[in-house]
Amino acid sequence: MSELVLYGSYGYTGSLVAEKAVERGLDPILVGRDAEKVTDQADDLGVRARVASLDTVADRIDDAHTVLNCAGPFSKTAEPMVEACLDVGANYLDITGEIQVFERLKRRGPEAEDAGITLLPGVGFDVVPTDCLAAHLAERLPEATHLALGCDTSGSLSMGTLKTAIEALGEGGAIREGGELRHVPSGWKTREIDFGRGWRTAVTIPWGDVSTAYTTTGIPNIEVYATFPESTRRTMELQRYLAPLLETRPAKRLLKRLVDRYAEDPSADERADATVYVWGEATSENGERVVSRLRTPHVYALTAESAVLCAEKTLAGDTPTGYRTPASAFGPDLILEVPGVERTDENVQAAGKGDGKRADDLGDAETDADAESDATATTENE
Ligand SMILES: NC(=O)c1ccc[n+]([C@@H]2O[C@H](COP(=O)([O-])OP(=O)(O)OC[C@H]3O[C@@H](n4cnc5c(N)ncnc54)[C@H](OP(=O)(O)O)[C@@H]3O)[C@@H](O)[C@H]2O)c1
Repeated sequence: MSELVLYGSYGYTGSLVAEKAVERGLDPILVGRDAEKVTDQADDLGVRARVASLDTVADRIDDAHTVLNCAGPFSKTAEPMVEACLDVGANYLDITGEIQVFERLKRRGPEAEDAGITLLPGVGFDVVPTDCLAAHLAERLPEATHLALGCDTSGSLSMGTLKTAIEALGEGGAIREGGELRHVPSGWKTREIDFGRGWRTAVTIPWGDVSTAYTTTGIPNIEVYATFPESTRRTMELQRYLAPLLETRPAKRLLKRLVDRYAEDPSADERADATVYVWGEATSENGERVVSRLRTPHVYALTAESAVLCAEKTLAGDTPTGYRTPASAFGPDLILEVPGVERTDENVQAAGKGDGKRADDLGDAETDADAESDATATTENE
């Protein structure tokens, strides 16, 4: 019983994961609910295929050691697949970034422990780089009480990611405060951040790290930021007023139809060329501050690499049982095993140093990643 099952393998991201798994010498069983798509894909890759919906999947994966679920939105697929994994005694991995999915699977940790399996959601771009950065910062500043993470990417999103985001429309934003999840308005805070290629305006987003970084580090106050063009930031603010409309089924159906009609998945050229900048900052009550950064490949290229890497480690029996986050399972340096990833650290700053200046006060848009002058200013958009 050493089989790796890839569920949702013929979606955009699932296909990248399946190709990467085969390239790395694994022999995955591809499973999905569309017989034609899954058998065609398996024939192309020279691997096995099985047809199963979430209702029937437990009967089709009883030889699985590890299931890697790439079928999203995970708010719909994670729990049925976890049930199946508990039934057959297989480890469960997925590429979700959905806060509520992490929180729900975390509550099932004791069951997984009893069954001797691992629940390891979030092995894609959200959350492997940021979770590893969070763990790294917590090691650098063990007394940290506040953690801010951020991501600066100019790439487009897959149609499946857009549809998953539409599912969450109307829920607004989220942060962690005093150890508790707190709902905040969409685009709640704006902050100038030096991601390592000059200052950028970033806003808070409800990313999975609000759940996972707390599990990994225990730091009780967590915010996650991302850069967007000004027009998108304004749309996020507008969402607050449109929330009652956006969370209705008809509005979500309409938006998903628009995605099908007008959106495109990122091309192979886009995936090959992109660099993503990830930033993290931990601060303590007495004003100490540490900053570290990552440069990574494209979001979807990294997702394929990190998901297969985590699957390999799980197949090798390296993963502790129960609910785990990527960095709590494999340590902060897991991300450095992904080809093309670099990490840089700034020196520890004592209380007050650099605080309170705005980015534009620095007068140099190309501030070096290793400089100590990572001054920041935050604005609450309430
Ligand atoms: N965390 C990260 O960094 C990260 C990175 C990439 C993607 N993602 C997430 O991964 C998910 C997939 O993205 P994508 O771009 O690959 O989307 P996609 O191209 O639309 O593929 C989705 C796949 O999931 C399957 N699926 C969806 N709902 C299902 C259900 N109820 N039962 C069985 N199969 C189901 C689809 O099969 P059918 O065609 O049969 O419906 C398809 O194979 C999204 O939720 C996205 O947000 C996360």
